[in-house]
Amino acid sequence: MASDKSPASTTAASPALTPPIPPAEYQRRRHRLLAAIGREGVAILTTAPEQVRNGHTHYPYRQASDFTYLTGFPEPEALLVLIPGRKEGEVVFFCRPRDPEKEVWEGARAGVEGAVKFYGADQAYPFHALDEELPRLIADRDQLHYPLARDADLDLKVMGWIQQLRAQARAGVSAPRALVSLEALLHEQRLIKDKTEIKLMRRAARVSAAAHRRVMRFCQPGRWEFELEAEFTRACAEGGARFQAYPPIVGGGANACVLHYADNAERLRDGDLVLIDAGGELDGYASDITRTYPVNGRFSPPQREMYELVLAAQAAAIAKVVPGNRWIEPHEAAVKTLTRGLVDLGLLAGGRKAVPKLIREEAYKPYFMHRTGHWLGMDVHDVGDYKRGGDWRRFEPGMALTVEPGLYVAPTRQEAPKRFRGIGIRIEDDLVVTAEGHEILSRDAPKSVAEIEAWMGG
Ligand code: GLY
Ligand code: MN
Ligand code: MN
Repeated sequence: MASDKSPASTTAASPALTPPIPPAEYQRRRHRLLAAIGREGVAILTTAPEQVRNGHTHYPYRQASDFTYLTGFPEPEALLVLIPGRKEGEVVFFCRPRDPEKEVWEGARAGVEGAVKFYGADQAYPFHALDEELPRLIADRDQLHYPLARDADLDLKVMGWIQQLRAQARAGVSAPRALVSLEALLHEQRLIKDKTEIKLMRRAARVSAAAHRRVMRFCQPGRWEFELEAEFTRACAEGGARFQAYPPIVGGGANACVLHYADNAERLRDGDLVLIDAGGELDGYASDITRTYPVNGRFSPPQREMYELVLAAQAAAIAKVVPGNRWIEPHEAAVKTLTRGLVDLGLLAGGRKAVPKLIREEAYKPYFMHRTGHWLGMDVHDVGDYKRGGDWRRFEPGMALTVEPGLYVAPTRQEAPKRFRGIGIRIEDDLVVTAEGHEILSRDAPKSVAEIEAWMGG
């Protein structure tokens, strides 16, 4: 029996169902963007392509975050047109029509009727009518906003539509004169999270922090890295985060020194640390949490010394996340604490007096080679500019970010004291900037040496 596919049914499989974002919220987002585009402009947005894995199977489909942000529409092969001030409607959809035969195999589609009924379209057309219908929708607008130079097929199509309009010049039709990257407006909007988004991010982080807690207790010498991964993803799914925001990293011992280690294929050894960088995605919002802890539940002296240093660097960085501070300040604070500590531990030479010079020369880089964080949101490395007019961006309430310093002493570092070789540590939390300072969304995951040892021994 054919039935309408409501937006709610797309998340109905989740046992800990969060209320889906209400249609009015998507409408508010579109209105803000429509206002920013203005009546001289028109915008086009496309969905993510399906990705073939092999043969006739695909990777699990994930909608493009921009498309989800503005519509909540979960299917591929759709296109959104936003036409500010258009009398017949400002929101036009192209999407796959209903198709009972295909739906037997692939599940229900919203269809053009569903796009209007559930996803806020004023008008909707079948996707195959795109070339026929689209040119007139972008005609007589001065600027065309679209994801410029992101998708070669779309770039070509846009050129084709513009040529079609130019051919009608003598009939008084004009083609857009400027192509504008839609990201400039849309990603600025996405950078500042509203209340609904913060609520979802809080939940994503809570579910993921609980999963980290569960894995800490599950961990023991002899287990495989992928067993911890499986335990983590299961805990996330049970909490409502069916998908991961990125492939989990579970690195035992020296594998923790490989920043994007994702093999997760080795056994965990007694006496080693394990680094787990993993976060669930809940209703389209990411979390991104790293904890590093002893496989057997007890830090050794060198592990503890390095761990306390990374933790102190993280605390110094987190303290800088307050409105008005510049984006770079947490990183600078982390670098300062780490460099001082590396000198104290004998990993860098020169004594405390040399610290400013060591920082200037980036002497810490062999041990700390990445940035202290990134924007977080629908994407794990979320959108939004880090600089504006040549200067680092200042924190504003509603910005969400990670703070994730680390230290990595690869086993091959002959210049490092032997007792630290093969130790890799990262500690990563998710923050949202508030009017007063910040909220740590991932605070439920144990972090101090005492908390970790107590939890793992418990
Ligand atoms: N998990 C990716 C990152 O920490 O940036
Ligand atoms: Mn991160
Ligand atoms: Mn991470």
